[in-house]
Amino acid sequence: MTTDRGEGAPLSAGGPVRHIPVLLAEAIAALRLKAGGVYLDGTFGAGGYTRAILAHEGTRVIALDRDPRAIAGGFDLVRAAQGRLTLVEARFGRLDAQARALGHDALDGVALDIGVSSMQFDEGERGFSFRFDGPLDMRMSGEGRSAADIVNGADEEEIADILFHYGEERAARRIARAIVHDRRIAPFRTTQALAAMIARVVPGKPRDIHPATRAFQGLRIAVNEELRELVDGLAAAERILKPGGRLVVVSFHSLEDRIVKQFLAARSGRGAARSRLLPGEIAPEAPSFESDPRQPVSPSDAEIAANPRARSARLRAATRTQAPAHAADAALARLAALPDRSPGRR
Ligand SMILES: C[S@@+](CC[C@H](N)C(=O)[O-])C[C@H]1O[C@@H](n2cnc3c(N)ncnc32)[C@H](O)[C@@H]1O
Repeated sequence: MTTDRGEGAPLSAGGPVRHIPVLLAEAIAALRLKAGGVYLDGTFGAGGYTRAILAHEGTRVIALDRDPRAIAGGFDLVRAAQGRLTLVEARFGRLDAQARALGHDALDGVALDIGVSSMQFDEGERGFSFRFDGPLDMRMSGEGRSAADIVNGADEEEIADILFHYGEERAARRIARAIVHDRRIAPFRTTQALAAMIARVVPGKPRDIHPATRAFQGLRIAVNEELRELVDGLAAAERILKPGGRLVVVSFHSLEDRIVKQFLAARSGRGAARSRLLPGEIAPEAPSFESDPRQPVSPSDAEIAANPRARSARLRAATRTQAPAHAADAALARLAALPDRSPGRR
């Protein structure tokens, strides 16, 4: 947890490369902030959302980030907030447990602005991007399996599944075969070595995105278990939001948005008409959320012109009802998982 240790000011919260908050005004409006309200920002990053919530008088914020560098970059904001901000190095998948550990059993709002920050993308040594040559790492938290561990250690089938399901890369099998062939000669150590090999195997057209873009997305999602975290984080928000509390999620690609959309559809009872139950059929659980109309919200042309990284952002929001939280959702978990290829499940 971050406390006021009076350390020297970084250039900006989160480090020298500034992250421009995406859909900031829309996310803050969607939270419908109340004086005295307690909000959880599950993705602190450079603190853009947290700062905007704290600007609303009387609010308190619990902010989480799994990246120790993001936490270190937030010291000044913690100090400036004078007790209204608690910043914790943690995953948002267990955000309800984090809030309870801090004495909050019910929250007024939860915001998740998922994905990668500009600091993570633009610091070559983090290994998120092949625009810079850096170690093949991609771990937000610095813990667990790195991208190099997967590329040099996973079997061909798992690599192909990661590239296909998490990267939506149609040439996944061809790339996986080439990885497994080439790593016998020399393991992949750097981002640009892997990107150059992919460009050789699946050369793109000059105006297309770089041929390694999708593979890198797939590896990053696998390394950080991003989709499972999202499924867990949505369910955790459902457990800790008070009736009337607001859930606001900004996602950056179709895999994430599909999970948020499906979660809100299931939880708001869409498609589950109680009156049409057949005899013996179990009644669906009562809706635990009421989804906002006209979703998703996309960035304006002006925001995209000012910050092209906002291009693919989508915001969805909903209000927690009085109903109990639903049981774990297997269909949602399947959206986040790779196919089960263990013996007997093929
Ligand atoms: C897009 S940035 C958030 C930017 C932030 N809203 C701002 O305005 O500065 C996403 C942040 O979420 C963090 N993150 C991603 N997945 C996480 C998870 N499962 N738990 C906690 N933090 C996570 C990343 O480390 C990164 O700092």
